[in-house]
Amino acid sequence: MTRLAHLTQQRLSNTWRSLRADWSRYAGNGGVLGMAASFGAFWRQALRAPHGVGAVCPSSAVLAQTMADLLPPSALHGQDMVVELGPGTGVVTRALLKNGLPAQRLLLIERMPSFCRMLQDRFPHVPVVQGDAMRLGEYLPQGRRVAAIVSSLPLLSLPLECRTGIMAAMRQCLDADGRVIQFTYALWGRTPLSQAGFVPECTRRVLINLPPARVQRLRPSFPPPKA
Ligand SMILES: C[S@@+](CC[C@H](N)C(=O)[O-])C[C@H]1O[C@@H](n2cnc3c(N)ncnc32)[C@H](O)[C@@H]1O
Repeated sequence: MTRLAHLTQQRLSNTWRSLRADWSRYAGNGGVLGMAASFGAFWRQALRAPHGVGAVCPSSAVLAQTMADLLPPSALHGQDMVVELGPGTGVVTRALLKNGLPAQRLLLIERMPSFCRMLQDRFPHVPVVQGDAMRLGEYLPQGRRVAAIVSSLPLLSLPLECRTGIMAAMRQCLDADGRVIQFTYALWGRTPLSQAGFVPECTRRVLINLPPARVQRLRPSFPPPKA
């Protein structure tokens, strides 16, 4: 083999290796078939209900890990529940479990039946409710308090009435010292959650996501805003 051919082969193989590394950083460790299933299911739903899904791709593993890492230690290791709203294909769910959140303390609320089936298959020990986040209070086991809400809901693309209802339900169900972790594709500007009296306490921008995203952790302010 000539030197030029050898160099070309080496360059191609390095490029392939780095593309694979980037891709697995994007898609996480769900395996190639799992990834293909996630993307397939996601695009089918996104075509059916673009405003309800509110995204062009499943969240990247980096975005999911950023959200999971923002869960405060008191919520990760305490007794109260963590509720995930709009888990979709379960990328964020996987990161929360990987960080050590016990499956029985997590509750997934997802509106689309096909995503619910996928979540139930992927995480058989995690309770999944097929329902509307607006009715969050009805789905909580009686007497259980909520330490954190981790939300992938596309708040900005939901109809105003639906968004307002969801934010009110979040406010009502969350512990006084609880936290909301929400991602958005709006990289700057006020979050709609501020209308429900949530105050951002930290922000991360995630570039390895399609499109890039902003994650915020918010705490409820007191007194709550008047309805
Ligand atoms: C941006 S996508 C989820 C992205 C997710 N992290 C993933 O990678 O698959 C938003 C999700 O919120 C769900 N959703 C939208 N409105 C909802 C509602 N009112 N109640 C519950 N889930 C809702 C959609 O079905 C969708 O699965």
